[in-house]
Amino acid sequence: MRKVAVIGAGVMGHGIAQVCAMAGFEVSLVDISEEILKRALQQIMQSLNKLVEKGAITKEDATKVFERIKTSLSIAEAVKDADVVIEAVPENLELKRQVFRQIDMHAPPHTILASNTSTLRITDIAAATSRPSRVVGTHFFNPPQLMPLVEVVKGEQTSDDTISEILNFVSKIGKQSILCKKDVKGFIVNRIGSQVFEECLWAVYRGEATVEEVDASIRAAGFPMGMFELMDFIGLDPLLMGLRVLEEAYGDRFKVPPLLEDLVKKGKYGRKSGQGFYDWSKGRPLIKLELAGKYDINRVWAVAVNEAAHLISEGVADPLTIDRGMKLAQNFPAGPCEKGDEIGIDNIFNLLNELYQKHNDARYRPAPLLEEFIKSNRLGRKQGIGFYEYKAAKKFDTILVEKERNVGWIILNRPEKMNAITPKMLEEVSLALDELERDPEIRCVAITGAGDRAFCAGADISAFSLTNPMNEFFMLYKARKDLESKMERYSKPIIAAINGYALGGGLELAMACDLRIAVDTAQLGQPEVTIGIIPGWGGTYKLARLVGIAKAKEISMLGKRITAQEALQIGLVNKVVPKDRLKEEVLSTASELSRLPPLALWLVKLSIEAGSQTSSDIARLIEVALHSLLFSTEDAKEGFSAFLHKRKPEFKGK
Ligand code: NAI
Repeated sequence: MRKVAVIGAGVMGHGIAQVCAMAGFEVSLVDISEEILKRALQQIMQSLNKLVEKGAITKEDATKVFERIKTSLSIAEAVKDADVVIEAVPENLELKRQVFRQIDMHAPPHTILASNTSTLRITDIAAATSRPSRVVGTHFFNPPQLMPLVEVVKGEQTSDDTISEILNFVSKIGKQSILCKKDVKGFIVNRIGSQVFEECLWAVYRGEATVEEVDASIRAAGFPMGMFELMDFIGLDPLLMGLRVLEEAYGDRFKVPPLLEDLVKKGKYGRKSGQGFYDWSKGRPLIKLELAGKYDINRVWAVAVNEAAHLISEGVADPLTIDRGMKLAQNFPAGPCEKGDEIGIDNIFNLLNELYQKHNDARYRPAPLLEEFIKSNRLGRKQGIGFYEYKAAKKFDTILVEKERNVGWIILNRPEKMNAITPKMLEEVSLALDELERDPEIRCVAITGAGDRAFCAGADISAFSLTNPMNEFFMLYKARKDLESKMERYSKPIIAAINGYALGGGLELAMACDLRIAVDTAQLGQPEVTIGIIPGWGGTYKLARLVGIAKAKEISMLGKRITAQEALQIGLVNKVVPKDRLKEEVLSTASELSRLPPLALWLVKLSIEAGSQTSSDIARLIEVALHSLLFSTEDAKEGFSAFLHKRKPEFKGK
């Protein structure tokens, strides 16, 4: 593939042409007037200049890219030697069919004919050609230069070869793709996105929340933009048109809210007209995040999960594809399926049902697949299976993961080797931490060792390469960077339950935890010098930070072990307990931590970690920034109010 023709040089067409030229393709860009083509080239030039200014490409590269784009008023001329033709003319079936007829007449037989339609069926467009097996959907997102995803749509007659060639092409132009296996209206991303938009619109229309309250809750849940902001950004007129198409196609499962129609009738189209849900005349609206929480964000997730369930049942896409699509095309902080599993399919189902009963609105009717999931006990993460299967607890070879009350235990499980660390163990600890972090029931993580002799006696030397130091450096540095920085930034407290020897890498792992509780028989040390090396996982600087330089040198240079009591005296451990009390002590510390506000716990830790590694000036800045951030949280309000009214606070982690 060498040459691409793009038909239609409007909002999408000029961007798609630029993307293809930047990937090295020769591009012919077609439109109906010289004026439009001239404007398109100007826009491309501006965009390339911006990239040069940012240092993303050189001036010479920009010139070469620009020179690869030729314009034409003739479809016949442009497509005659094209390998791929991408059509981006206005969203009108008759117009598109007419354009495809012309392309089909003049393009070589091997050429793939792609449409950028966002609402029409590929099959209906393909029917206008003599080669429906070579017709496919390539749904780019606006602006194509920036958006990383292309939704590839299989028409009823699109051949598998065409699909694999176009997927290959999409990856060559530097985009990621998801495959929409059935030619359904709205494909994947717009179907789920539209459900979410409609949910927000109806919530405001019914007076359940204000535009700002909905957007603040959405932003607080990790979305980069509120939904009303996003709708204004997209433009309310094309949005309304898209929603109408879905309403026609799916009956009462989609319903256009009057709120949107009213604004469009008044000529309030969103950002482009200066007014939509927000006033854009002075730039991006300022959303007061303290309004978050007045609208239940789980409603957004519930409708997204419900639509995802419909897509899966219809055979349009699997959960992984859907989740990737929503994250890449609409910046969802999590995929609907993974989020549904996290919230619990039963909770999603109940919320949908409740809303369905309350509003008698079919948009909330739970999808049959959700009902099936509930019948077969596929309730999500908590049950080990939902949209996805979770085999976390069993899948590790070198560790065990157990949950008790609200504590996630990571047990280093090589007791025959004194729980010595291997590269695999580091990787598995890291994975387990990720899983426990996502688990809403877990408030605190504890790391301990299996058996009663050792927490961890250090690195398993036989598992590390002594003959290839560069390899060793790379492997160790990477594993360290991954795990150590993960532990430093981890959003839940981590306690080291030191049940025996904590030596070398074992002590270093304990030092990466936030708190250390040791049994009275434990021995701690950094014996590396005695075998001719030095600590390699924080043992030098972390130890010095915790106990001071003099003590750190004593421990590391003499390579001697210290007792738990000595460790307590110098501040290396926080508490020493008899062996049979270790577990209880960890659980009670965890329960004490669980009563505290999670966000404040996390930020105080981040501030200590970051602040102790930098100058006072920067440390102060970080501390003040994090301190100020917390004032906007519900938990801070609750903390203040409980303090004033002399009652026990109830923190929610918001
Ligand atoms: P646009 O109106 O900005 O551009 C369409 C261009 O096609 C115009 O410059 C027009 O002069 C030209 N055109 C009309 N008839 C033609 C013909 N017979 N031959 C050659 N050129 C012709 O429209 P836009 O927004 O770029 O949309 C194009 C397609 O992309 C539509 O199918 C739309 O649904 C889809 N799309 C649009 C998105 C958006 O955010 N604007 C996002 C994703 C898809």
